[in-house]
Amino acid sequence: MEEKLWGGRFSAKTDKKVDDFNSSIRFDQRMYASDIEGSIAHATMLGKQGIIPKEDAELIVKTLKEIKVDIDDGKVEFLIDAEDIHMNIEKILTDRIGQVGKRLHTGRSRNDQVALDIRLYLRDEGTEIKAMLKNLLKVLVKLADEHTETIMPGYTHLQKAQPINFAHHLLAYYEMFKRDLGRLTDALSRMNFSPLGSGALAGTTYDLDREFTASLLGFDGVCENSLDGVSDRDFAIELASSLSIIMMHLSRFSEELILWSSHEFSFVEMADTHSTGSSIMPQKKNPDVAELIRGKTGRVYGDLTTLLVMMKGIPLAYNKDMQEDKEAIFDAVDTVKLCLPVFTDMIDTMTVKKENMEKGASGGYTNATDAADYLVKKGMPFRDAHAVIGKMVAYAITQSSALDDIPLSVLKGFSEIIEEDFYEAIALTTCVKERKTLGAPGLARSAVEKAKAFVEKL
Ligand code: ARG
Repeated sequence: MEEKLWGGRFSAKTDKKVDDFNSSIRFDQRMYASDIEGSIAHATMLGKQGIIPKEDAELIVKTLKEIKVDIDDGKVEFLIDAEDIHMNIEKILTDRIGQVGKRLHTGRSRNDQVALDIRLYLRDEGTEIKAMLKNLLKVLVKLADEHTETIMPGYTHLQKAQPINFAHHLLAYYEMFKRDLGRLTDALSRMNFSPLGSGALAGTTYDLDREFTASLLGFDGVCENSLDGVSDRDFAIELASSLSIIMMHLSRFSEELILWSSHEFSFVEMADTHSTGSSIMPQKKNPDVAELIRGKTGRVYGDLTTLLVMMKGIPLAYNKDMQEDKEAIFDAVDTVKLCLPVFTDMIDTMTVKKENMEKGASGGYTNATDAADYLVKKGMPFRDAHAVIGKMVAYAITQSSALDDIPLSVLKGFSEIIEEDFYEAIALTTCVKERKTLGAPGLARSAVEKAKAFVEKL
């Protein structure tokens, strides 16, 4: 076993089990490109400031670039006993260029290095997730555009409530995912400050140019306090929180799609490409994709909880507990990256069973509110109208008929002010079309146009 990079004050080798236990290379190797990017910026700055010879800085940068290519090509094997990605890369560097490589870690600690690497890594991942969300928004708007005239029941308590159109339902999710996009953008902008130069915890005595490395790495500025720079994982928590909310929305929509795929609802049918069969029941077509997304939501919540609990009791500055941040935030990122595209494709390819949606809206007295509103518009106070229509519904239930099917002569028995125009007023199309409050389904067409204009700019 080779000497540790920090082995100077030790006389015994690390226990094998402790090496395995302590090592994070299994899961932090995915940050190699960020680590190298950060080291290149650091070395460039050290050279510019004359902290190390310029030629040494140049050789370090050149070799780091070569190492990156070799890792990309799968030519590098990482070592468990080199602990983490930071020391693995530093070790490869010194193996290749000896003494010069040993100058790279001047004025730097793994504490600011790891804080930097995670930010760089998550910035890229967050940007990818934003692109996926944008695609989802586009598909939602495309579907909504096709379904402004598709009437369906709206529910409360999963009981039929009032008729809406499918576009309106889709645009509700559009609003949620649009907020998610905003939340991600916010989280990424707060994350975009460089901790590099915070050192172990208290900065350094070298004349580092922190603003220079920050700008080389595309940050909006530097973390203003060195203790905070190395101790903060808010950015990971904030990202995990945004990701949890995305999953909550995906899960909620998935739950609806699962219900709607059932024989009882039959509002949608997933494409063969996005459903699975049963090994025993030949008739089955299961909405596994939606179920798995619903299931995976718990993982991401778990990841957020891991991060929150990990951070709540540790004193400033770095503590090894913080190494546990990576598996949690990586899992959250991986899960969302897995779910978003497959969900988007699933809704893009599903069949919407318009007739069943409309049939669903016509049962269950979803026009009862409109029937009461009819009486109100003829002068009756709403509470009285509510009571009259309540009795009418109770009667209709005994007749197994819809309100629309009760003859006018019978309707008049409930209220004299009911006329022939009652039927038109409670027709489902009227119920939806006339709901023209700002934000209501009667304005779905203009809402779709507004959403189209928004997604076109994304
Ligand atoms: N692998 C460590 C982590 O992920 C890097 C920082 C180690 N710093 C230290 N002082 N041991 O947190």
